[in-house]
Amino acid sequence: MSDNPLLLAARAVRESAYAPYSNFKVGAAIRTSSGAVFTGCNVENVAYPEGTCAEAGAIAAMAAAGEYVIAEVAVIADSPTPVPPCGGCRQKLKEFASGDVRVTMATTDGGALEMTVDQLLPGAFGAAHMEKD
Ligand code: THU
Repeated sequence: MSDNPLLLAARAVRESAYAPYSNFKVGAAIRTSSGAVFTGCNVENVAYPEGTCAEAGAIAAMAAAGEYVIAEVAVIADSPTPVPPCGGCRQKLKEFASGDVRVTMATTDGGALEMTVDQLLPGAFGAAHMEKD
């Protein structure tokens, strides 16, 4: 078991996940530049596309607290291999994280993989692409 406090927070919030349709509970935790930690779990819906990912929940909690700078991310699920954020969540994380921010992906049985935001989302679409000459 990792002693990464962010991973422990992700593991704890995963218990609250509402995933009756996939039976795949996910927990996510974000540490911000202030040192505060925000957590989220996936919340599914009978109208399947309306479900939200754990990472999105953690980002929403962060913004609700008035914080917008991600310093570190952890995600955990009960999976054979560490679960990477889905494509949409990679873009959501990139909105608030620089490319060198570490994302720790873990399995409930102790597996772990670390990647940066840039490694997860190379060539990200960003605000610079929308600048007009
Ligand atoms: N899920 C997350 O919450 N985060 C991820 O990084 C991958 C997938 C959720 C969405 C859905 O509730 C379930 O896992 C199965 O896709």
